[in-house]
This record gives sequence, structure tokens and C-alpha cells, in this order.
Amino acid sequence: MPKINRYVDIDTIERESKKDYIDRHSPFIHCEDSAKEGEMFSVTVKMGNEYSHPDDFDHYIANMALYNGETLLARADFVPGALANMKAHATVTFNIIPMGNKLNLVAHAYCTKHGIWESTPKEVKIEK
Ligand SMILES: [Fe+2]
Repeated sequence: MPKINRYVDIDTIERESKKDYIDRHSPFIHCEDSAKEGEMFSVTVKMGNEYSHPDDFDHYIANMALYNGETLLARADFVPGALANMKAHATVTFNIIPMGNKLNLVAHAYCTKHGIWESTPKEVKIEK
């Protein structure tokens, strides 16, 4: 089982190289704060805000997954070279149909060299 690294606010980090390392390995969840029950809801997970991760054959983001609490909702796999090593941010949009009262979204990303990285959780209220 690889170690799970969690996002640290890079404004609190002093060394530039460490900020780069943390930011480019962290998945960020982009979605609305509320969703309608039973209707398609889009959740985009994007790697990094300021820095992009390499897309080399021996070092790339192999997958990105979206969880609701402890339940896996969806996962996308990449092959190396999918982003042509163009310093693009690996990005996936998941479309899910929410049920219940709220979603507790958490994203995971797996780097082939640096393990699993977990996003900051994002709560989404589900309106009836
Ligand atoms: Fe990496």
C-alpha cells in the first residue's frame, strides 16, 4: 500500500522547490457547492494550480479517482504521453448523479514515482 500524501496549503511552505512538488502532485476538486438530487452533476479534478506534473514514460500521473467519503465513484487511467509532455495539467471531468443529502468528495491521484496524493475534501449539498 503506497503512502497517502495530503495537500498542504503551499502559502505556508517556504521553499519554492517544496511548493512545486506539493502543488503539482495535488488533485484539486472543481465543482458547484450544491447539486440537484437525481440530476447529472459534473466534478472536475485537476492536478496542480500553479505547477504542472511531468508526463514522462517513467514518471507520470497514472490515475485520478473520485470518492464520496470512503466509496469510490469513478476513476480515470492515463497512459504516459497522453499529455504529450507539454506541461499541461492532467484534468478529468466526472459526471455523477448525486443522491441523499450531501456528497463528501475527495480526489486521489497516483504518481508513478511519488505515490498517492489526496485532495482537500469538498462538501456538496444535495437539493431535493
Ligand atoms: Fe511525481
